[in-house]
Amino acid sequence: MTYLTVKSCIASLAVSIGCSLANAEVPALYAGADLTQGSQLMGQHKCSACHQRNVGGDGNDIYNPKGRINTLGLLRGMVEACNTQLNLGLFPDEVNSIAAVLNRDHYKLKQ
Ligand code: HEC
Repeated sequence: MTYLTVKSCIASLAVSIGCSLANAEVPALYAGADLTQGSQLMGQHKCSACHQRNVGGDGNDIYNPKGRINTLGLLRGMVEACNTQLNLGLFPDEVNSIAAVLNRDHYKLKQ
C-alpha cells in the first residue's frame, strides 16, 4: 500500500514536471498546443518514415535544410500544406500541436 502510494506520487510528480517543461517550450503563437498529442500524431501519420525515404538517416534532415522556414507562422503553414496535400485530415489544433513539436525539436524559432 505504502509502496503504491509512493509510486503513484512519483508518477504524478514526473507528469507535472513534464507538463510545466512542455508549456515553457510552446511559443505564444502556438498557445494550446499539446506536445504529447503532436508526437503521437507524427508517429501515426508516418511523417518520419516518408521523410527518411527522401533524405535518409532518421529523416530529420528534411527539417529546414535551407533555413527557408524562418517564422512560426511559416512552419505551421508547412504542416498544414502537408496535411492538405497528403490528405491526412488533421484538425487545426492537431496541426498546431505538430508544429509545436517540430519547433521544439528542430526549428527552435522564437516568433
Ligand atoms: C508521403 C511522404 C511524406 C509524408 C507522409 C510527410 N511528408 Fe513532410 N515532406 C515530404 C517531402 C518530400 C518534403 C520536402 C518538400 C520540399 O523540400 O519541398 C517534406 C517536407 C516537410 C516539411 C518542411 C521541411 C522544411 O523545413 O523545408 C515539414 C515541416 C514537413 N514535411 C512536415 C511533415 C509532417 C508533420 C508530416 C506528418 C504529419 C509529414 N511531413 C508527412 C514528404 C512527406
